[in-house]
Amino acid sequence: DEEEQKAEESSDLDTSSDEEEDENVMNTTEARVPKETDAKEEVTKEQKATEQKEQKEKKISEQEKVQNKAPSQPAVFIPVDRSPEIQEARLKLPVLAEEQVIMEAVRENPGVVICGETGSGKTTQVPQFLYEAGYASDGQIIGITEPRRVAAVSMSHRVAKEMNLPPQVVSYQIRYEGNVTSDTKIKFMTDGVLLKEIQKDFLLKRYRVIIIDEAHERSVYTDILIGLLSRIVPLRNKKGMPMKLLIMSATLRVEDFTDNQRLFRTPPPVIKVDSRQFPVTIHFNKRTPMEDYTGEAFHKTCKIHRMLPPGGILVFLTGQAEVHNLCRRLRNAFPFRKNNDADSSEAMRKFKKAKQKKKTVSLPRIDLDNYSALPVDEGDEDREAGIGDEEDGGSDLDIGDDVADSEEKADPSIPLYVLPLYSLLAPEQQAKVFRPPPPGTRLCVVATNVAETSLTIPGIKYVVDCGRVKKRFYDRVTGVSSFKVTWTSQASANQRAGRAGRTEPGHCYRLYSSAVFGDFSLFSEAEITRRPVEDLVLQMKDLNIDKVVNFPFPTPPSTEALVAAEQLLVSLGALEEVKQIQQASLSCPITPLGRAMASFPVTPRYAKMLALGQQQDCLPYVIAVVAAMTVREIFEDLDRPARSEEESSKLTQRRARMTQMRRLWAGQGAALQLGDLMVMLGAVGACEFAGCTPKFCEDNGLRYKAMVEIRKLRGQLTNAVNAVCPAVGVFVDPKMTPPTEHQVVCLRQIVLAGLGDHLARRVQAEDLLDPKWKNGYKTPLMDDPVFIHPNSALFKRLPEFVVYQEVMETTKMYMRGVSAVEAEWVPQLLPQYCHFSSPEESPSPWFCSSTGTIRCHRKSTFFRVGWQLPAVEME
Ligand code: CDP
Ligand code: MG
Repeated sequence: DEEEQKAEESSDLDTSSDEEEDENVMNTTEARVPKETDAKEEVTKEQKATEQKEQKEKKISEQEKVQNKAPSQPAVFIPVDRSPEIQEARLKLPVLAEEQVIMEAVRENPGVVICGETGSGKTTQVPQFLYEAGYASDGQIIGITEPRRVAAVSMSHRVAKEMNLPPQVVSYQIRYEGNVTSDTKIKFMTDGVLLKEIQKDFLLKRYRVIIIDEAHERSVYTDILIGLLSRIVPLRNKKGMPMKLLIMSATLRVEDFTDNQRLFRTPPPVIKVDSRQFPVTIHFNKRTPMEDYTGEAFHKTCKIHRMLPPGGILVFLTGQAEVHNLCRRLRNAFPFRKNNDADSSEAMRKFKKAKQKKKTVSLPRIDLDNYSALPVDEGDEDREAGIGDEEDGGSDLDIGDDVADSEEKADPSIPLYVLPLYSLLAPEQQAKVFRPPPPGTRLCVVATNVAETSLTIPGIKYVVDCGRVKKRFYDRVTGVSSFKVTWTSQASANQRAGRAGRTEPGHCYRLYSSAVFGDFSLFSEAEITRRPVEDLVLQMKDLNIDKVVNFPFPTPPSTEALVAAEQLLVSLGALEEVKQIQQASLSCPITPLGRAMASFPVTPRYAKMLALGQQQDCLPYVIAVVAAMTVREIFEDLDRPARSEEESSKLTQRRARMTQMRRLWAGQGAALQLGDLMVMLGAVGACEFAGCTPKFCEDNGLRYKAMVEIRKLRGQLTNAVNAVCPAVGVFVDPKMTPPTEHQVVCLRQIVLAGLGDHLARRVQAEDLLDPKWKNGYKTPLMDDPVFIHPNSALFKRLPEFVVYQEVMETTKMYMRGVSAVEAEWVPQLLPQYCHFSSPEESPSPWFCSSTGTIRCHRKSTFFRVGWQLPAVEME
């Protein structure tokens, strides 16, 4: 009956705005008619009682208001023992001046919005205010969500230190790890973690307060959480379990949350924290370098260092490669010390591919209806949570090289202490920026936009802003993604400038003209409008929100995006198709398979693979491949430009080594057909075999941080599969033995079943009239060819049919994560994408075959490149 209750609770979310009862969502005192249930009468009775009770409460609450005494407030004051230095530092934070106003607003309202410049003390202080006011005293806790993992971890450490409390009390939980205990009172977590918790406990009973931090970033999970909490908070209050929602934002642009009828009928109060920001003088460039802004940033930084008084410099660039490039140039120009973080030599152990010489008798087939993971029961306690994670522009796939120029010879009397900062950077490297620079040096941090709002670096007086940001773009129709460097928004540029005025008046050097600035958009758009939403739709369906289209999104995704997501989920079997004549199906209910898939913290395509994975004992391999695909960028980017001959030869050596290892990991014989996924599997296996050391990764071109995450994710996915289906009892041995030939075939089929909509066929000879199609592949949705990347294990083999992980547009449209599949598997494993017909009904002679024809359901595409598949006998 817990299930039932869950369904009932979340059905409240399914608010079809038209027919909805007049419900005051952020106001606890107004009665609300529950939706119809079977036990109608009972409900009516209960409802009347509730109404009466609420009327009474309303009266009381009004009386209390008059007496300036708030309802259901914690009456205790919990003292905190802070050190005098901390106390002194706190008093300087602007948010301290607003403590009373904030706490009063929290007492009076179920929801409150707090706006204040980055560094004003929101994240570190507001949880402390709430703690002191007793919001974590009755066995319930205070939860704070962050869009970025690094912020969740570092903020929990900071707050613990300020409050003089151990990490068992002020804790954090991120996707792969956490230190939450039963004594936890303040819990920092990523927004994805909280979303997963809502699936287990819709009312979030553990929490007395939820703080959504960094709401201005408009991360998808943050947006969804705000939508969900706009319903959960009134429900909780209605049920007599009061709860508070705080939304914290660095910008004043909060209308999407406040003036939003879908979200809050009564707009929550907005408290503005006056930042004691020192003035920042903005200097625009006269001209705007269109290409070499890294070079321009270099010259500007050199000038600042040579000519301006002490004070840290913070440079904003767009991606990892640029950051490293500039760091190198600056270190060369102002030598400080040899920066060599690489470990020194230690013998490498090779991963030996076992040779399989077994002869295949008959190829195994996977059974589409054979799921390893159909839900057994809900509420398993140790199921790990966490979906969303940061990405600051991800990899640098398409960044133009810097033009090498004559380095400025500087007077190195004050050394420049240069540090990189980006989200893929190893945590101990990241932490360096918070420590004071060595005495007698000037700090210079070269960062991506992680430093824009989530992290405050102490002592910055000069900001150099390239004005650009690297963003991932998706083409909604084709699913092609690309990283593009675009102009940032005015709001972001101002945020960046603000970093210079934290401790004293500062300067911001914008590497673009004021005219260009004038053309920037005012604000960055919400992420949810820029990415596919199938994972969100599945998570919502799992919360029994069938009509996702009616969900109170702060900014709703487009209907096309929602339709595309439902269609994909239907074809994966996660949703049940509801045929509708008028509108595209937008209210398909979730299937048992869908529930199982929703419990895996990976995208639905990969979740489907996990669900099919136990066949032929493939699950450990499926888990490893899915983990590797989810973590992404397992190989280091060695294509970066070298600054010296020595470095150049080192890079060449490492590239050669990486190529060699890739070839080794791709295996032989049958394994080769699994292509890039076999390479991933081999890399994971080899790395574990060698003990997953930084040295092994460095020597073989693997990214250590990625490999560590893959290991954690494998553990987490193993737990998830075991939790959903204990019968399978999968045990993941970190050191996998390579799959047998049978298993490889099985794996290819599982991959096809999951990535079915990412099927591509090599262009046939007769279609090669246009040379642009040479070695190209045709996909159902794109007019242009896609290609196998030269780094791919299948680059020279060009199989006729492949599936790919994603298409990434760099210099060409490249498929990433390519595996070869067999045409005759398609009708069996992807019937939903096939159109079956007999020769008589074939609309054109092109489709004629002796026994029947299968064609893609998008006919036009089919015509153009002739995706005729071999005839298969179907019943
Ligand atoms: O959340 P908001 O941006 O408003 O400010 P915050 O993150 O609470 O930071 C308040 C102050 O604490 C800033 O001056 C930070 O530099 C400082 N802080 C710190 O010294 N060390 C940390 N690990 C985190 C914050
Ligand atoms: Mg903050």
